[in-house]
Amino acid sequence: MTVLTIVSQKGGVGKTTVALNLAFSIAGRGWKTLLIDTDPQGSIGLSLRGGVAGRPGLADYLRGDMGFEDTVLSTRVPELGLLPVGRPTFSEACTWLQEPDAQDAFRHLLKRASEDWDIVLIDTAAGPYGPARGVLGMTPAALVLMQAEPLGIRSLPSYLEALAEIWRHGEGGRVVGVLLTMVQPRRAASMAVVQETLRLIPAELGFDAVVVRDPIFLEASAEGVPLGLLRRSPPPAAAVFEQIAAELEPRLALCTEEVEDEARSLVD
Ligand SMILES: Nc1ncnc2c1ncn2[C@@H]1O[C@H](COP(=O)(O)OP(=O)(O)O)[C@@H](O)[C@H]1O
Ligand SMILES: [Mg+2]
Repeated sequence: MTVLTIVSQKGGVGKTTVALNLAFSIAGRGWKTLLIDTDPQGSIGLSLRGGVAGRPGLADYLRGDMGFEDTVLSTRVPELGLLPVGRPTFSEACTWLQEPDAQDAFRHLLKRASEDWDIVLIDTAAGPYGPARGVLGMTPAALVLMQAEPLGIRSLPSYLEALAEIWRHGEGGRVVGVLLTMVQPRRAASMAVVQETLRLIPAELGFDAVVVRDPIFLEASAEGVPLGLLRRSPPPAAAVFEQIAAELEPRLALCTEEVEDEARSLVD
């Protein structure tokens, strides 16, 4: 099983949005995908309709109140499951995934998940500290999101250094890509940040895809659905998650020999 943690230095850059829409696309490509919300504020639940925010989840599992099977929600997409954050108390949230018992339980959860799922996508709280640090220390691969603005690029080197430090002190891990979000293609300053970032990072960490700033995301958020379920014909912005999924697959070694991977004829 592959584990991919979606992280960013700052909040509000689109982590939860990308986690949700990317999980939808990866599942649509046939991979059994489990999306786990590890943000103690429960961002995924708050972003979805269907009362997800009130359901039991990770907090209840970590406390030992519920088993793995009872916390995973199935979704309209057969290959996509959702493990909401559940209902952490304030004191649980303060030390979230940083204490040895909780970390053991979380590692156990990932092991159990590997029996049923091809890939686990993890949404996190912002920053390299606290809750996100706990998760990063236990997971092997991170997708770094960066908002296309000058502040983002200035803080990127120190953020990448912080991630390296976390992995040096823990079980090791790597960045699989730096994805630009909230890109405004018609604004020179925004496009300059895209170019500058691609120059700054190693070529293998860049993406051809960028997530543009688009009011359709607010519409999808108001409806509490991924873009792909907003209407019968998904809006153009939904297509970018297909592209990101395709760019990520080889980096995550998601293509295995077990999968039939040859060109198929259109007409039999
Ligand atoms: N590409 C985008 N264009 C416009 N609005 C966006 C975009 N991505 C996210 N948003 C909106 O920005 C807000 C923060 O996004 P969110 O995914 O919750 O960020 P994070 O998880 O990093 O805090 C939400 O209201 C969301 O709907
Ligand atoms: Mg979030």
